[in-house]
Amino acid sequence: MAKSYEITDHKYDVIVVGAGGAGLRATFGMAIAGLKTACITKVFPTRSHTVAAQGGISAALGNMAEDHWEWHMYDTVKGADWLGDQDAIEYMCREAVPSVVELEHYGVPFSRTDEGKIYQRPFGGHMRNFGEAPVQRACAAADRTGHAILHTLYQQSLKHHAEFYVEYVALDLIMGDDGTCEGVVAWNLDDGTIHVFRGHIIALATGGYGRAYFSCTSAHTCTGDGNAMIARAGLPLQDQEFVQFHPTGMYGSGCLITEGARGEGGYLTNSEGARFMERYAPTAKDLASRDVVSRSMTVEIREGRGIGDERDHIHLHLEHLGADLLHERLPGITESARIFAGVDATQEPIPVLPTVHYNMGGIPTNHMTQALNPTVNDPDAIAPGLMAIGECACASVHGANRLGTNSLLDLVVFGRAASIKARELIVPGKPLRPFRTGCADKALDRFDRLRHSKGGTPTAEIRLNLQRLMQNDAAVFRTSEVLQDGCRKIEEVWAQMEDICIADRSMIWNSDLVESLELENLMINAKATIYSAEARHESRGAHAHEDHPNRDDDIWMKHTLAWVDDKGKTRLDYRPVHTYTLTDEVEYIEPKPRIY
Ligand code: FUM
Repeated sequence: MAKSYEITDHKYDVIVVGAGGAGLRATFGMAIAGLKTACITKVFPTRSHTVAAQGGISAALGNMAEDHWEWHMYDTVKGADWLGDQDAIEYMCREAVPSVVELEHYGVPFSRTDEGKIYQRPFGGHMRNFGEAPVQRACAAADRTGHAILHTLYQQSLKHHAEFYVEYVALDLIMGDDGTCEGVVAWNLDDGTIHVFRGHIIALATGGYGRAYFSCTSAHTCTGDGNAMIARAGLPLQDQEFVQFHPTGMYGSGCLITEGARGEGGYLTNSEGARFMERYAPTAKDLASRDVVSRSMTVEIREGRGIGDERDHIHLHLEHLGADLLHERLPGITESARIFAGVDATQEPIPVLPTVHYNMGGIPTNHMTQALNPTVNDPDAIAPGLMAIGECACASVHGANRLGTNSLLDLVVFGRAASIKARELIVPGKPLRPFRTGCADKALDRFDRLRHSKGGTPTAEIRLNLQRLMQNDAAVFRTSEVLQDGCRKIEEVWAQMEDICIADRSMIWNSDLVESLELENLMINAKATIYSAEARHESRGAHAHEDHPNRDDDIWMKHTLAWVDDKGKTRLDYRPVHTYTLTDEVEYIEPKPRIY
């Protein structure tokens, strides 16, 4: 069946898949370097999920008070609960400063101080002088920082003549017999044609898989497509048990209320009106790191101090900040609270609940974004021809828990790093390997299997089963019993895919088929998540295991690797965390208890 498709072949130096912040920063960086670069994306670039990032991008600019990238590095290592690779964290925090200055020069309309400098606000876990007190490090464009950055990066990409293939759905990678990635197969939604994009490097920038959960801040498009392509190529995913719950998803809709709201002076209360974070994090209080705040809120609710008839949420207070400040610094969330919760944030508290927000795990890479294919003898072995950047990647700079605003930073620092590395690796115009007949067959067989499936269960029903299971069984707090039950139930949901019902056989704008392809991707990510979580018998960062409440560095300071094969069989192994820095400017930060 697959062989009946006509294939259009495209040749580039580099193919970037995804046009969010990471994809765009890589795309134009590569174009500037003279590399013929294509960016293929399933949504129009400025609709990528980066647009939804609110509170800021971290960099120790020191515009508001003294700050240093070494302090930023310390906070990131601590936030990551010592699962991060410190060479990569050093790279990210050091490069933060020039990367953000570069963004300013590219035209990002940051908010300004009275002196005209970039405005910076406090954010959870960002502290001065190695944990002393909160520092203002998040560079903000009001509460629409992602929107401002994404539009600027897209403008730069157009300026530098990057070539875009918009509303092309990437189906799968093309892997050579020697394990080199040679290209990617894609489906053009607009006219139904099938394309093979070949390049010396395929850089995946496909974002996270928040939609594996029932309630998340992620866009509907966040379906872990790149991660699933990696798994289908026989490569592992790393640390997927670490799923971040943002403390302030809006109760009901799950829409993000930026942590910047607490950075500007907002605070949380329970049903007794108490500012409970003072009990859990005496120094940082409401600005402790996200895993700590989400767990504290969950404990308050569990112990009967939640708000509302069901006692199932918490209040976020901003009304004391005054309408002027809210309109100047937090206009977006003030509007969202009105629309989605019917609340006037200048007058009354916003109902909030911890909500799935970010995937710390993903495609393992080194600090220059090269994807890894770890072996027992070489845990840092490179997967030739492949890069991964942004939320789909695991460099690992976020370890077991990401600090707020380090995600936008990750996108631009590593998007930039990908272009620097590509420049080193590729001579522009160097001939590609010849086109191999049949190279797209495996991808198109999968496409056909779904397109012609004649089952009786709608995609939306299977997806809902998956989302509910992940929400209940891989939550803020986990137990062995619940995780084991989750592993059993996910096999049942996986089996339901056999009976998937695709109503529409069309090749043109068949959204039913797109969602089914995405559901297969979500399923692979969910499997890697729940099996990895079940196996990790400790608590670290976002993985809070009630049967194993302590961090166990002797046994568990290691990265999980999960392989999910085409039949859904999941296999785990581990690779060491990098316990060294990149340069001798900073020393390795030894593990210690994590107190805020
Ligand atoms: O709360 C926020 O504005 C989210 C930022 C982030 O996830 O980095």
